[in-house]
Amino acid sequence: MSKTIAILTSGGDSPGMNAAIRAAAMVALAKGHRVLGIRHGYRGLLDGAIAPISADEVNSILREGGTILHSARCKRFHEVAARDHARAFLTEQGVDGLIVIGGNGSLTGLTLLSDPHEAKDWPVRCIGIPASIDNDIALTGLAIGVDTAMNTIVEACDRIADTASAHGRTFIIEVMGRDCGYLAMTSAIASGANMVLFPEAVRTEEELVNSVVNTILTVRERHRENQKVVAIKAEGVPTPTDRLKSLVDERLCEATGEDHEDIETRITVLGHVVRGGRPSAFDRLLGSRFGNVAVRAVLDGEHRKMISWLPPMDLPPGVGVRASADPYCYLVDLPAVLAATKDLLEGQSPLARWRATAFDDLEDVFLL
Ligand code: F6P
Repeated sequence: MSKTIAILTSGGDSPGMNAAIRAAAMVALAKGHRVLGIRHGYRGLLDGAIAPISADEVNSILREGGTILHSARCKRFHEVAARDHARAFLTEQGVDGLIVIGGNGSLTGLTLLSDPHEAKDWPVRCIGIPASIDNDIALTGLAIGVDTAMNTIVEACDRIADTASAHGRTFIIEVMGRDCGYLAMTSAIASGANMVLFPEAVRTEEELVNSVVNTILTVRERHRENQKVVAIKAEGVPTPTDRLKSLVDERLCEATGEDHEDIETRITVLGHVVRGGRPSAFDRLLGSRFGNVAVRAVLDGEHRKMISWLPPMDLPPGVGVRASADPYCYLVDLPAVLAATKDLLEGQSPLARWRATAFDDLEDVFLL
């Protein structure tokens, strides 16, 4: 029986949202279902901004940043009356399943919308897709947009490093991430920055200033030829970046006296630049996979679930141990790696078997 699936994107947009919309729509359409797009997130849901989505409309959006469905932050959705209105509206539109693509706030909205105490026996299946450059959503390794944002930051840092190097200057680069330091930390590693400041470290203002000043003085002492310093600062660090710069300048003045004039600091706030742009290949893939799985979850009758991205294997006991320094890493026995690789290459492992048939059920989708 044909079903109706509605999709909305909400909260801060992230590159790859369009890939998720496209995949969800194409998979649903290929299976003969009706797809509705809700414009402007939960605000549009309350205002009745809904229209059918066709394959033609979504076919070429894969490479576009932002979201074709537009997004919004909606305070009204915090009220029970607004959510009652939203549920009644979706029922009226004949919606069987709702897919919400967004971050923490958006998934909270979906959880409230589908709360059994509030929604009673409302039959609409609700599925969330994690999408936020901040990577602050638990129980998924990654959310849509993180990879692109990280690449954007790294590219910007590389450019800044060139001019910092030419002038022997210090740059404090502020990156988005709300209260989460993930983007700052990962892009600091990937760009080879000299230091990173992030909220999780919970430092006093005094400690922050000290650490920047110490880094600058150490680099200047050690690298006479290249006095460049790049410090990445997460926006969630409570001291504003311009204030941090002034405090660092003051402290440098005290520490170095007249020599302070040789030490120049600059700040760059990357801001919303980090959120825009064409999605990376990985975000296109992640969005597409999430969209595909989300639609199938709705059709299978799943409800109140988030699609999550985790490494695809549970290691059998005795093969390896999780690295104590990094919970995303396992220390795996080398012979076990070689044996598993042989199985993979010869099509003998579950992963190999999954890969061999992964596209079988997608032929119609690709033909649309
Ligand atoms: O959650 C995504 C995000 O880009 C955060 O990194 C940032 O703090 C916030 O949204 C900015 O929100 P707005 O675009 O509403 O100013």
